[in-house]
Amino acid sequence: MNTKIETLEWVIWTGFAAFVGLMGWIFGLAVALAMCLSIPFVIMLKNDFIRRRFTWQSDYSVGITVLDEDHKRLFELIFEMYKSMQKAYGKEDAARILTELQEYTITHFDREEAVMQKHGYPELESHRREHEVMKEKVNHFSAALAANSMEVSKDVVRFLQNWLINHINKTDKAYSAFLTAKGER
Ligand SMILES: [Fe+2]
Repeated sequence: MNTKIETLEWVIWTGFAAFVGLMGWIFGLAVALAMCLSIPFVIMLKNDFIRRRFTWQSDYSVGITVLDEDHKRLFELIFEMYKSMQKAYGKEDAARILTELQEYTITHFDREEAVMQKHGYPELESHRREHEVMKEKVNHFSAALAANSMEVSKDVVRFLQNWLINHINKTDKAYSAFLTAKGER
């Protein structure tokens, strides 16, 4: 789905094929066959790795529970987008998930901005501008999907995932110490 995952996937499968070949050459067909039967397990490990890439991690925490919960939900919705890209869902479902992401993004940004405003966070305006850019981007994806001029692609999912991770790690974490010092938990 992104370059790192694709590269890792290629390395895993190439390494696995080479290993099966080597074991077959050394120990015979039965061993190579047994290894091939382990493929579902390998696939499960791969899926688990991808799932974790789309799951909120504790080091993303901004120290405020309600905002961490919002971020978790945003990760889940982007994972749903990823699954829709994998054709696990139909086009209507992809549009529905993107609409939900659009709505939840607004809900979360409003909540986050309200907490910053309540405590007079000095970087509120620049933070708000980042939110506005993201809202416009998601609106654009949604309109393009509705107009059939775009499909949910790996570029779209990668953009959403990278934006969320970078925004949390840089811009959101910057308010963490300020707001927790004001008593937000
Ligand atoms: Fe934010």
